[in-house]
Amino acid sequence: MKTISLKALLLYFVCLISIHSFAQDKQERQLILIDKDWRFSLGHSYETQKDFGHAEGYFSYLSKTGFGDGPAAPGFDDRAWRKLDLPHDWAVEQDFSEKGSFSHGFKAAGKGFPEKSIGWYRKKITIPESDLGKIISLKFDGVFRNSKVFFNGHFLGTEESGYNGFEYDVTAYVNYGGENTIVVRADASMEEGWFYEGAGIYRHVYLQKTNPLHIISNGTYVIAEIKNSNAGVTAEVTIENKGNYKGSIEIVQTILDPSGKQVSSISENTLAPDFYKTAKITSKLQVLNPLLWDIDTPNLYLLQTQIKQEGKIIDSYETNFGIRTIRFDAEKGFFLNGKPLKLKGTNNHQDHAGIGTALPDELQYYRIKKLKEMGCNGYRCSHNPPTPELLDACDKLGMLVIDETRLMGINDYHLNDLKRMIERDRNHPSVFCWSVGNEEWNIEGGIVGERITNIMQGFSKSIDPTRPVTIGISSGFKSGISSVVEIMGYNYMGNGDIDAHRNEFKNQSGMGTEEGSTFATRGIYFTDDANHYQSAYDKKPRPTFYSIEEGWKFYAARPYLAGMFIWTGFDYRGEPTPYGWPSVTSYFGMMDLCGFPKDNVFYLKSWWQNEPVLHLMPHWNWKGMEGKEIDVWVYSNCDEVELFLNQKSLGKKKMEQYGHLEWKVKYAPGTLQAIGYKNDRKILTEIQKTTEDPESIKLLVDAQNPLKANVAVVTVEVLDKKGLQVPTANNEITFSIKGGKILGVGNGDPTSLEKDTFIDDITLVSITNLKEQRLSETNLPQEQPSYSQNNWVTAFKDRDYKNQALSYAYQGEFDLKNNSKNNSVNFFYKKIGVEAVIFVNGNKVTASAEDAQKYILKTDILKEGKNIIYIIVKPLQKIKDWDVMNTDPGIIQVITPSDPWKRKLFNGYAQIIIQKDESDSDVILSASAKGLKADVLNINLKNK
Ligand code: GAL
Repeated sequence: MKTISLKALLLYFVCLISIHSFAQDKQERQLILIDKDWRFSLGHSYETQKDFGHAEGYFSYLSKTGFGDGPAAPGFDDRAWRKLDLPHDWAVEQDFSEKGSFSHGFKAAGKGFPEKSIGWYRKKITIPESDLGKIISLKFDGVFRNSKVFFNGHFLGTEESGYNGFEYDVTAYVNYGGENTIVVRADASMEEGWFYEGAGIYRHVYLQKTNPLHIISNGTYVIAEIKNSNAGVTAEVTIENKGNYKGSIEIVQTILDPSGKQVSSISENTLAPDFYKTAKITSKLQVLNPLLWDIDTPNLYLLQTQIKQEGKIIDSYETNFGIRTIRFDAEKGFFLNGKPLKLKGTNNHQDHAGIGTALPDELQYYRIKKLKEMGCNGYRCSHNPPTPELLDACDKLGMLVIDETRLMGINDYHLNDLKRMIERDRNHPSVFCWSVGNEEWNIEGGIVGERITNIMQGFSKSIDPTRPVTIGISSGFKSGISSVVEIMGYNYMGNGDIDAHRNEFKNQSGMGTEEGSTFATRGIYFTDDANHYQSAYDKKPRPTFYSIEEGWKFYAARPYLAGMFIWTGFDYRGEPTPYGWPSVTSYFGMMDLCGFPKDNVFYLKSWWQNEPVLHLMPHWNWKGMEGKEIDVWVYSNCDEVELFLNQKSLGKKKMEQYGHLEWKVKYAPGTLQAIGYKNDRKILTEIQKTTEDPESIKLLVDAQNPLKANVAVVTVEVLDKKGLQVPTANNEITFSIKGGKILGVGNGDPTSLEKDTFIDDITLVSITNLKEQRLSETNLPQEQPSYSQNNWVTAFKDRDYKNQALSYAYQGEFDLKNNSKNNSVNFFYKKIGVEAVIFVNGNKVTASAEDAQKYILKTDILKEGKNIIYIIVKPLQKIKDWDVMNTDPGIIQVITPSDPWKRKLFNGYAQIIIQKDESDSDVILSASAKGLKADVLNINLKNK
């Protein structure tokens, strides 16, 4: 074989780029979201045949480029696969199973489910000829997990973690002016965390086009330092040259203030880096009297960075940043912009009711807003880097973030993940602290933990010296990590003596990185272990854990503690402690999986923010409990609260700071009323009324619409005849939608095994036992002939392509599990000959109008069990000896329509997440239930 030297190839490529880059100079970068129109199918984790024959090739794609096989090959026929848009989580779409993972919320997917642990995604894109000369790359924000990506059959790489963003340069593999195939194989057969993690491409994917000389992804780093009410801004930019331009370039950096007005600009001349080399350019800018970023006024500035070559802009890149100062003080806690700020935080995982981990961006805003309403100002991304949109939401809404890497260690594997997280996230003003570990029990108390911490801490400072580092520690606070970590992260006061640790390490700042882990079910006021419901009264959950109130009193009383982060803000799937199957979500949240508040929210609201609060619990629907004592609690920041039952005072009580009030009340139906006083003045009234049975359904759309969204969160509740919301209702509600689609439904019930999504089932049925007969006719039959049964031989076996028959009959079988009239059955034929005539169970079938190789099979010619297909064709001829001929007749696709979308209310509420389609019409959502008046909601959403 003729060998071409690497050098010659490189030269060729450089020339190629240089020829074409000339014409492209004026073009700036494009970042194109390519979430729409993917094809998806589940594969198999070890049976290659069920994995569409992937990794069966004689030459593996691991040692021959372009040899991606099975679905990884560009020519693979995916017409029978499901069409979907990203983000997507296939785990949430599955049923629940007792054999499922406790950590992952018992979904029948991933670990232990080899047929539901591999997801294949395919997408075709056209890249115009005019893009030749640009650098083309694919950017993934995160795929769960162990993804392999192929482009036009070329294997691009593997990203093991489900939490890292990654990028592949595909420039050399592109079919310019034609079709290109992106293929992703995600393998969720192993878990990373001990909590629900979803499965699939659950974050955004982009196609990026830049000039060969460009700013690398996450290639800017903005540091603002405030001096005498002005800000000195250092803007560092990393550029890379994947072309052959040698010569000077200009780097122009411009700052726009929150109103979009230019406030500073600077230009530097420098030399383009050498081929495939990078260079860092640092510019100093000034912002006079900056508007600071803080949690109440999250002012954001924009840095625009441009590269100019011979006066023309060849790349431009935008970086949002904020101007603010952060400081930890070992005595006085945390300071934002020079002012003390107690951190009132929550930990959270990244899933939500109905949609699992595939959150549309709007949901990030929804969730952060819910936390802010509770008075929360801090968010710990436990225990992995979040999706970038979460940080955007925190920047824009004013929420401080602890950004956490996944695994401690000092090797490339660990440090590279940490580096990528810091480089991606260090311009977000919301991020105030890096966390490099959580509860590393193997090492946290000893010298190994100490060494690893020192290295990870120093390493993180080398990338971002402006933020401190913490680690959540839980097995005693005495030695090991505790003695060296910059900001001590106490995970639970019950795990050690926090005051004693602080007395020993007086110069070390600290905060409660986890506290709480209390158990509560929304709307439940008597613990019912048999049914796995925990009462919502705040209580000490386990011997070494404390109630939310105990926790907050402890942290609030100690100025040296910067604050506490509750485990957790929202319930999440998995970790249904203290129960197991059939409980599928956690009980720890201040809010349930949908974001409906449990009563603890109002405790926090009382003491975490300044608006007056008065909350009365429980509800007052206790039929059958007449005369029995009920615990009535009040959460409030009023000075005093008086309680009344049916207008009779049950006494006025003084509120202790950070406390709550309790009464024992003999139940009688009617009106329970609390009146809150401040400075002896009535300021608030709160009522719980006994309701009657539900009479009508009410749909309420969440008012906020931060992104001019095409997604909305809708609350479903039921009202009695007086219009009172019924807090105990559990009616099953059925939904239908026009002008959009439903993404998921939930109700916050930790034991609900109802479906989260209602999507049509697609089953792919192979044609088996394919046999053939040589025929001597050239006219293909119009009716199914009866062939002699003796002449059938295995199809294509030892075919002599130089001596083929004039025509062939093929006979195959396919098995249908059922033949319901509602099914749609399609045969996606793949050419095994010319001019095919096809018979199914003796009936001639004709190709569909939209695709000449698709046959719609009506259910009246099909049957449950074995079906027989005949394909009669003239043979395909080999042109060259080495041509590989198709021997696969294609696949049968059975679509079974889903049931209508439905969900039971849980203690009065359900949630439905909807997305507008691209038409101009409004979204119309209808809800109905047996015996209830239906509701219809007209929702005006924006097109995206
Ligand atoms: C902590 C852990 C969290 C969660 C929590 C439940 O130990 O860091 O991830 O598991 O316990 O109580």
